[in-house]
Amino acid sequence: MISSKHISLKYILKQLKLIAGILFGLGACTTSSTPTMRQAADQCGVNLGVAIHDRFFDTDSLNRYKKVICDNFNMIVAENAMKPDRIQPQKGTFYFQEVNELIRFAENHQLKLRGHCLVWHKQIPEWMSKDNYSKEELLSVLKTHIITTVRHCKGKIYAWDVVNEAIDEHQPDYMRPSVWMKTIGPSYIDSAFVWAHQADPEALLFYNDYDAEGINEKSDMVYELVKGMKDRGIPIDGVGLQCHFELGKIDFESIRNNMLRLHELGLQTQITELDISLDSSAVNVQSRQKQGDAYGHLCRLCLSDNQCTALVIWGVSDADSWIPQLSDYKRDKALLFDENFNKKPAFDTLYSTIKNAI
Ligand code: XIL
Repeated sequence: MISSKHISLKYILKQLKLIAGILFGLGACTTSSTPTMRQAADQCGVNLGVAIHDRFFDTDSLNRYKKVICDNFNMIVAENAMKPDRIQPQKGTFYFQEVNELIRFAENHQLKLRGHCLVWHKQIPEWMSKDNYSKEELLSVLKTHIITTVRHCKGKIYAWDVVNEAIDEHQPDYMRPSVWMKTIGPSYIDSAFVWAHQADPEALLFYNDYDAEGINEKSDMVYELVKGMKDRGIPIDGVGLQCHFELGKIDFESIRNNMLRLHELGLQTQITELDISLDSSAVNVQSRQKQGDAYGHLCRLCLSDNQCTALVIWGVSDADSWIPQLSDYKRDKALLFDENFNKKPAFDTLYSTIKNAI
């Protein structure tokens, strides 16, 4: 309780900052007579998400970025901010400031929030990946990370990617030799899901992977993994298909068939990290249009099956995309907006696909 004689300049400044924060936050979204892509997605019941770049946390000068997000999407996921190295940089020291900022933004704009990701072989802090933990010690590290993180976000996260990229089709046992696998063994996957479910029984829990979208050797192994989990009564709700695609190499029929077999197991699928990159030396009117067609095709594929429950684009604009760096700049222009937030043919096609589905 604060009496008037205790109201200091510091207190007033703090309150002003709070009010400004609320205004900035709410001011980021607008409504207009033509439906935005977000409104169209809401109307046809599509969970349409986007990955949030780290520049979201920089300053208030990012209103334009925030407006594009909430005018066009109804779900968000942190591209990096919720990975273990960001949440628990030192053992036992949890950093939830950015997570809280995302939660606040999602609440202010009625956006669903996906959690990505609890267990992975990459982007884990150095102390976590040290090889000298015993099995019991590493199990305890894993449990603490999952329980603390999921409990902190309880009720705020619509779906968690609990385990990311655990299958490696190049290994004799198909298991990626991560620190988790090497020290704990394959049971780390079941344990992770059980703990996540304990900490937030309402959140949907996903296994997420790449290059396992269509039917192939890797997706066969993902299928076996999640089928085994279902048989053992592990609380898994779905499989995330990352969908980092190159234009011209997408087998839509095969993706549909893979989705169908997962749905038959009683699992949902979500398209969790969609980008469709172009050959950097062949960015032209035709390739941009074909990219649009591919976005539309994949969206129709997801919309046509009510067990495909979300479509998430891995970034807002081409300025943010991880693809150029990943591909040594051979691939580029993978997203819906260009560097200046201009809508691309990919946006137009996705938008009309969703509008036509209302
Ligand atoms: C990527 C981010 O987009 C990059 O910014 C980061 O440098 C590396 O990770 N599969 C995943 C995502 O599950 O977390 C990855 O995100 C892309 C591949």
